Amino acid sequence: MEAKAKTLNSMSKRSRVPQVSILRPGIAQIFFLELVLTALPACGITATAQTADQAWLRYQGHTARVLYPRDVRALGTGAIEKSAVQELRRNLGDLVTASLSARAQGGLGGQTVIGTAEEVRKAFPGVPVPAGLEPDGYWIYSAPCSDHYNGCGELNLIVIAGGDERGALYGAFALLRFAASADPGESRPANLLRGRPAMPIRWVDEWDNPDGTIERGYAGRSIFFEGGNVREDLAPVSEYARLLASVGINGCNINNVNGASPFLTSEWLHGVVKIADAMRPWGVHLAMSIDIANPQKIGGLSTYDPLDPIVRDWWIAKVNEIYALIPDFAGFTVKADSEGQPGPSSYGRTPADAANLLAAALQPHGGIVLYRAFVYNHHLDWRDPKADRARAAYDIFHPLDGKFAPNVVIQTKEGPIDFQAQEPVSPLFAGLRQTSQALEVEVTQEYTGQQRHLVYLAPMWKQVLDFDLRADGRSTPVKKIVAGTAFHQPLGGMVAVAGVGRDAWLGSPLAMANLYAFGRLAWNPDLAPEQIAAEWTRQTIGIDPEVVRTVVNMLMQSWPAYVNYTGPLGAQTLTDITGSHYGPNIESSEGNGWGQWHRDNRLGIGMDRTVATGTGFIGQYPPEAAKTYESLATTPDDLLLFFHHVPYTYRLHSGKTVIQHIYDSHYAGATQAAQFVKDWATLEGRIDQPLYEQTRDHLVYQAGHAIVWRDAIVQYFLKQSGIPDNQGRAGHYPGRLEAEDARLGGYKVIDIVPWEDASGGKAISCQGSTLGPPETPDELAAPIGPSNLKSCTADWTWTGPAGRYNIAVQYFDFRGASAGYALVLNSHPIDTWLANANLPSTRPNGDNSTRRTISNVELKTGDVLRVRCIPPENDPAALDYIEVTPAPQSRN
Ligand code: GCU
Repeated sequence: MEAKAKTLNSMSKRSRVPQVSILRPGIAQIFFLELVLTALPACGITATAQTADQAWLRYQGHTARVLYPRDVRALGTGAIEKSAVQELRRNLGDLVTASLSARAQGGLGGQTVIGTAEEVRKAFPGVPVPAGLEPDGYWIYSAPCSDHYNGCGELNLIVIAGGDERGALYGAFALLRFAASADPGESRPANLLRGRPAMPIRWVDEWDNPDGTIERGYAGRSIFFEGGNVREDLAPVSEYARLLASVGINGCNINNVNGASPFLTSEWLHGVVKIADAMRPWGVHLAMSIDIANPQKIGGLSTYDPLDPIVRDWWIAKVNEIYALIPDFAGFTVKADSEGQPGPSSYGRTPADAANLLAAALQPHGGIVLYRAFVYNHHLDWRDPKADRARAAYDIFHPLDGKFAPNVVIQTKEGPIDFQAQEPVSPLFAGLRQTSQALEVEVTQEYTGQQRHLVYLAPMWKQVLDFDLRADGRSTPVKKIVAGTAFHQPLGGMVAVAGVGRDAWLGSPLAMANLYAFGRLAWNPDLAPEQIAAEWTRQTIGIDPEVVRTVVNMLMQSWPAYVNYTGPLGAQTLTDITGSHYGPNIESSEGNGWGQWHRDNRLGIGMDRTVATGTGFIGQYPPEAAKTYESLATTPDDLLLFFHHVPYTYRLHSGKTVIQHIYDSHYAGATQAAQFVKDWATLEGRIDQPLYEQTRDHLVYQAGHAIVWRDAIVQYFLKQSGIPDNQGRAGHYPGRLEAEDARLGGYKVIDIVPWEDASGGKAISCQGSTLGPPETPDELAAPIGPSNLKSCTADWTWTGPAGRYNIAVQYFDFRGASAGYALVLNSHPIDTWLANANLPSTRPNGDNSTRRTISNVELKTGDVLRVRCIPPENDPAALDYIEVTPAPQSRN
């Protein structure tokens, strides 16, 4: 059935209640309306209870709502259909009908029914449910109820039919999403009436540990575990499952791929049952990471050799135990022979031997194995020019193609290294033609700013999904490979390492766009990232077109901006790769076995991965892509340094030299980050105020940290190459007053490691200071700590002209400590603050270098500027510099 959409253009400026017919205009309609609240929404993003309403399932506030008959009922008795009913009722819950037009009120009469295709056919033989509705697929139908019942006049009948129960739930969410996210002028998307997922596996992986910590999680503690047990309060788990279901995610792996062994003990499994129970009503199936050495570690066997019959029997018994407790258990995720995890190689066995062992145990129950291709040697010889971590996955898994059981899926990260801000697509996707595959991405922003930086990742994922590997010279984009259609495989999908925690899911409201986008792309990889961003914004932040335009623009620019200031031309994220994966640390990639090398030296940079002279990695791609990357002439600029080693003077397709590009892109990136602050400021008063303030603070921090990144990379490569910036910026910082040049009271000059993380490589530290309390009464008044604490001071005399200035203070905000700071002008404190952000590292470096800007300070020549700090014991209150720049109005 193809129902035409029609906009009624009935938006009344006065009431601001637009009503749009989206189904069968003139016969029966579903309306949606915009509600403009005068008070703050009760379910504000910053509300304390952790609910899905804090994310995009907000049925109040500055969002639109769909109207359908208020009498909502399920045809079946299953829990999933009940969830769908509950969700549709929740949307209408507090609706004040008096404010609606008569036409809209009419839309509330009649019935909304939910059921599987079979149930609908039985209950409404006249409703033309399409044949062959797919599993997880849905179909939405509307008609006058009089077509199906006698005596109900012109009231509506809305039917949401699913290929199965879960499909019905997805149909309900599709209806709600359309209403909440549609532009009032937008017509119904062609897929509203009928939808089905592009790929069967749409999972999130959580790397939660038994003690409640989360590997690479940046939003507080686990929603699943605490202190070695499953948490008592699993309400957030149900809410999370609800959120996942709303974008079609159907599986959730709840435990870390590292250190997974305890979870399969009987004791743990009994606890895990409760988690499965909490997610089940939302159609989200529980999966678990396992340790391949479990037969030995928890089973007491002397071996975990995958080909040993006693090991096989152990797994069969364990899997049977799991299914007795969790009948809809989804399966196992396996990290083996990787980064210290045990693996089949200990017995000279292959990943196929290990995967098939597990698959055989799971198969009778319908379970699957997601075996990760992230297998590599992290003790590579960095002196060997032929050694290359990027080769590992293909070298290990390609020869095994065709040897995996049908319920094994090889799960491969998008790039050949490790979730970098920019990498080429892994060639393994084209290297497995007889094996089901899944694409693994990260929602948790491990290498992409850890949720403190705004980085909307959908454009990156979309680039990967659309990348056409042209296996056998025909079109084989990654999205078709992982959907199973390119090579006709039974399974396939997308998996995201999500990292949600108790701090409002991802700790940062805008980061939630990534979780949303992941689900939407796994459902339909043809969606455009802009469209997804707009949908998310309308549901989460507001439908004011100016708000939508601003937020979507910011989201769309955020990944390129981050790439600009963190790592040039495919050299990967130039971060601390052996530790935090957060701040700049360029040399940490080199001189060790981890293989995240970019091979910079005094003359040039980049890793030669050509077949002709390098590691041969490029030869793993199908011929057309290999040809493109093998030649310098055809390699795209943004991946140049991933594939080639070139001199700094090498000229890019853009016409710039590599070194000038490094300078320009880092300055451009930091400018983009500063622009986000200005863009966001235009939304004040138009959106939820707590959301506005929280995000403003994140963006201000990001803009400061982008400068840390910019300066680290620029000064490093200036020194390394000896080639000046043709714009004169590198190494010159107008208005910067170095801490080490100040008159110091108690402070001592220290070297920062790595040197590039501080301006000029040096900073000052108050550690071991013997100074007494500050003497000036005004300074004592500064509310930054008890006055009997020791303090240090750094003084500069302002020699510039009188005027209004912004003063940035660049200091190191240690993890787990709260130093107090004051900026003092001629003995009068003009700002005081605590350095208590939750940043990585307890050493002063680029992880925690932080900028605080005090605006519009009136300065006269000869004024004395002082930074005073009161450090707690475990924090040296290290200071890098202050920077005095004309305030915008005094530039005129
Ligand atoms: C990254 C990450 C690790 C993680 C690993 C993995 O290297 O930093 O914390 O264990 O990926 O994907 O297994």
